[in-house]
Amino acid sequence: MRKRKAEILPVRIYGDRSLRKIAEPVDKITDEIKDFIANLTFTMYEKDGVGLAAPQVGRLLRIFVVDPFWFNEENEKNPVVLINPKFLEFEGQTQSEEGCLSFPDIYEKVMRAKKVVIEGLNEKGKKVHYEADELFARVLQHEYDHLDGILFIDKMPKLRRMFLKKRLNDLESTTSKDGVNIG
Ligand code: NI
Repeated sequence: MRKRKAEILPVRIYGDRSLRKIAEPVDKITDEIKDFIANLTFTMYEKDGVGLAAPQVGRLLRIFVVDPFWFNEENEKNPVVLINPKFLEFEGQTQSEEGCLSFPDIYEKVMRAKKVVIEGLNEKGKKVHYEADELFARVLQHEYDHLDGILFIDKMPKLRRMFLKKRLNDLESTTSKDGVNIG
């Protein structure tokens, strides 16, 4: 087993073009991809996130990691990695507050399906299947959207988006369009 020290990857902020691109499926889980996933996971925890998708660090691949409960159960970490994920079912609707590491300090209510069933591959290439509800279901939907260039502001009611317009413009204007974040 290879061992290496995980690194923090710079998280792209709203305004960065990679956040609006459609990510490509992964066709082979190489050692490089495994290292990338380790870094993505490490970055999620270091940034106090409950999910992080590859496009958020500028890598346009259909990969994300989530761990909706690590901050409330004695910080026990159980990362769920999904590669080439696909939703099989959606059920119900629920509204709750969300944030996103690509939108510092913005938290807004977003409507999502209450329960979802998702499948994909884990970092070992093994097929995995999750039935999720509550926060777990919400995070899966939020991260999945990142793979299609969809952001949580797109899911907000128009009026809320209008209220946020100035803050969004400010974020955009301090973000380099391709790469390193200024703000
Ligand atoms: Ni996000």
